[in-house]
Amino acid sequence: MNKKNVLIIGGGGREHAIVYSLSRSPKVGKIYCLPGNAGIAQLAECHSEYKATDLDGIVAFVRSHPDIYMTVVAPDDPLAMGLVDRLESEGFRAFGPRANGARLEASKSFAKNLMKKYGIPTAGYEVFTDYDSARAYLDECTYPTVLKADGLALGKGVLICETKEQAINGLKEIMLDKAFGSAGNTLVIEDFLVGFECSALAFCDGKTIVPMTTSQDHKRALNDNKGLNTGGMATFSPSYKVSADMEKRIYAEVLKPTLDALIGEGIEFKGVLYAGLMIDGDEIKVLEYNARFGDPETQVILPRLKTDLFDIFEACIDGTLADLNIEWTGNTAVCIILASGGYPEAYEKGKEITFGVTDEGVIVFHAGTAEKDGKIVTSGGRVLGVTALAPTLKQARDLSYANVKNITFDKVHYRTDILKEL
Ligand code: AMP
Ligand code: GLY
Repeated sequence: MNKKNVLIIGGGGREHAIVYSLSRSPKVGKIYCLPGNAGIAQLAECHSEYKATDLDGIVAFVRSHPDIYMTVVAPDDPLAMGLVDRLESEGFRAFGPRANGARLEASKSFAKNLMKKYGIPTAGYEVFTDYDSARAYLDECTYPTVLKADGLALGKGVLICETKEQAINGLKEIMLDKAFGSAGNTLVIEDFLVGFECSALAFCDGKTIVPMTTSQDHKRALNDNKGLNTGGMATFSPSYKVSADMEKRIYAEVLKPTLDALIGEGIEFKGVLYAGLMIDGDEIKVLEYNARFGDPETQVILPRLKTDLFDIFEACIDGTLADLNIEWTGNTAVCIILASGGYPEAYEKGKEITFGVTDEGVIVFHAGTAEKDGKIVTSGGRVLGVTALAPTLKQARDLSYANVKNITFDKVHYRTDILKEL
């Protein structure tokens, strides 16, 4: 068989999970990754001098490597900046939505207005482009309330405000002090929702949307959902709180209507569509959309995928997803993130990581790691994700924690309360 070489853009745990999955495909030859990390480098040729947002550099890299058959764009920024559009315009094959589809994530007001127009359930909201009208609205809204900077802000542009005073401070931070830069030029103020959260990811080829297995993220930095919001501190899959009936409803009430809405707006969305949901009793509401794989959701979803990921990427690009049967293993998966002490605020880098023996059924995905003088050191906030696969979530949790304890670096921090209810 003629194996195909693939390039992955990104360098976190999600990208390691994508590279890991593709490396197991008999159809995939050499894998490149820009910029990659120390773990990905064990499976792929990494070029750490490239940033995922260096569109000119990436396009030039693809041009100078005619052996690259397909480029997979994993992170939000290059998608929103139009990397897929740029690659396609030069005749290259790319997996991921174009900039018009990535807006679903890159502009919260665009996403909210789309949901309103097409009757997709979401929290009530108002959009503001000037400080004074937003400030006046804070006098009449109910509390808690939620402030969301419109643009991409590394998952940090959302403030849950218990009181009016907090909301006024948050509003100043976002709209006047520009704490999230131009992401805060437009602001969404949204009703506070209660319930449990669930991540519903799906593959999409522009015409067909196929749900992946469910997963659940833990965004707060500290145990018992305390501390600041992070990119995600742990995930498990499937989300045991979501029944089979609820999964069908998520497809019928959220995923399919979102694809139809995009089609209605003339947007051909190819790639991964991710709906962050809040579920309260039998009520499902969309909290946000992402136009990509989640991180660390991918680290529990892809290890459970039976179907060849390369075939799925091909089908999404070619518009043939309806012909593909996507299957999942009966296993469950838990991923615990090891972070640098201080994350998501300031943290130190360059700490040497000591790895223990990894048990069978465990995969250690690298995120913020780099190689220095033959040693693996920390180089980011989220450093590693330890994914364990087992027949039950309880077993997977215990296996993941047993392996987490074998890995150390100075000031390592991880949550110890994941699935403690089981
Ligand atoms: P987002 O980036 O929109 O997913 O928001 C980050 C996190 O803030 C979510 O995962 C929720 O935990 C929380 N959040 C966002 N919107 C709301 C809301 N309307 N009500 C309650 N919590 C929310
Ligand atoms: N884990 C949440 C995200 O990827 O946005």
